[in-house]
Amino acid sequence: MSKHIYLVSGANKGIGKQIALELVEQGHTVYLGARNLEAGKKVTQELKERGDARLVYLDLNDAKSHQAAVELIEQQSGHLDGLINNAGVIVGYGNASNVTHQALRETFETNVFGTIMLTQTMLPLLRKGSHRSIVNVSTGLGSMTMHGDPSWPFHGTTPLAYNASKSALNMFTVLLAKELRDEGFRVNSVSPGWIATDLGGEQAPGSVEEGAVIAVKTALEGSDGPTGLFLTTGGVIPW
Ligand SMILES: NC(=O)c1ccc[n+]([C@@H]2O[C@H](COP(=O)([O-])OP(=O)(O)OC[C@H]3O[C@@H](n4cnc5c(N)ncnc54)[C@H](OP(=O)(O)O)[C@@H]3O)[C@@H](O)[C@H]2O)c1
Repeated sequence: MSKHIYLVSGANKGIGKQIALELVEQGHTVYLGARNLEAGKKVTQELKERGDARLVYLDLNDAKSHQAAVELIEQQSGHLDGLINNAGVIVGYGNASNVTHQALRETFETNVFGTIMLTQTMLPLLRKGSHRSIVNVSTGLGSMTMHGDPSWPFHGTTPLAYNASKSALNMFTVLLAKELRDEGFRVNSVSPGWIATDLGGEQAPGSVEEGAVIAVKTALEGSDGPTGLFLTTGGVIPW
């Protein structure tokens, strides 16, 4: 198997850290994007014992950090094979009738605007590579079809800002996949499941190992892999 170069955003903890760990353990070079440099350094040190892990400062809300990251990766590696847009936030749990504008703005700033801007900034580096994979870490909570099913276990989980930000991220996946298909890119959304992390909460049933499975699998898929889909470990789910 050829060795790839990946960038994982939000890799200093949670699902992102686990994704980075597994890719490093499989022999790939992984740039761990972290806005918290102290935590990022600690995790990168830990992962360096398993393989080629490199820390890069990355705040989705700071375009200058995106540019600096591109320059660092370009200088060190010359190209990028895969981008895993994992970093994300949940800001408040307001429903559609009472969510605050601040919660909406903050959530979209990171989960949508920051992720799109980072991807656009990384595209030239991804085009220099041959693997050409983009994985957007979304959630089933962003699925409008699932929310239409009253028997769905998460039917009552309705924080508007978070859910709508991931629906918007899913549209980014669909349209980017369409646009880049002829260049051999694979662009997919993945849903990790409900996972015990700072974001998912302690009561979540899934481990970070379980949460990382679909993102890692999708990031590794070759040119015959899927594109423009919403994937879980159980297969394709509806938008
Ligand atoms: N856990 C779940 O049940 C679940 C379910 C479905 C989808 N997801 C998705 O999985 C992804 C990872 O979540 P997680 O559960 O692993 O949460 P987590 O443990 O809270 O980790 C989130 C990561 O994103 C980073 N981040 C947040 N805002 C950022 C920004 N502006 N710039 C750069 N990094 C930023 C965090 O950095 P800091 O440490 O600096 O805050 C952290 O590294 C998210 O996209 C989330 O929506 C999670």
